[in-house]
Amino acid sequence: MAKITMTVNGRQVSGTCDDRTLLVHFIRENLGLTGTHVGCETSQCGACVIHMDGLSVKSCSILAVQAAGSSITTIEGLAKDGELHPVQAAFKAHHGLQCGFCTPGMVMTAVDMIARHGSKLDEATVRAELEGNICRCTGYHNIVKAILAAATEMGGVRQAAE
Ligand code: FES
Ligand code: FES
Repeated sequence: MAKITMTVNGRQVSGTCDDRTLLVHFIRENLGLTGTHVGCETSQCGACVIHMDGLSVKSCSILAVQAAGSSITTIEGLAKDGELHPVQAAFKAHHGLQCGFCTPGMVMTAVDMIARHGSKLDEATVRAELEGNICRCTGYHNIVKAILAAATEMGGVRQAAE
């Protein structure tokens, strides 16, 4: 067993877990932050994407002990003062979700994508970078539109084609 401490959504947290515990299970079970989903545990679906020290990572591909001392943001950490993050608002406005199972991972991937590409983000890049996120119900068109719309609002980029 290991005792680990990390910052999650701006708050320092500690917990005890088995050395083999995956970060996604630590987040969901020890911290009760169940917005981060488990869709496969084989690093394919992207439902578990969180930010670790500012970059998106699949939390099923990291041990909780490897995240000790890091700064983690989960989907619960995006909205501020009751206001949805622009990417969350764009998914809602552009119908980028149906069942919502993939949505937390999609949103966390998108926030990182926009942060890295800024105004250079285009549709081809969004589609290429969504390769690691699987949606089983929407198709991807509205997700791409939502991400480009959010990027526009956050910095100015081209809209996805209709
Ligand atoms: S649960 Fe992590 S990629 Fe599917
Ligand atoms: S909205 Fe249902 S899996 Fe993507």
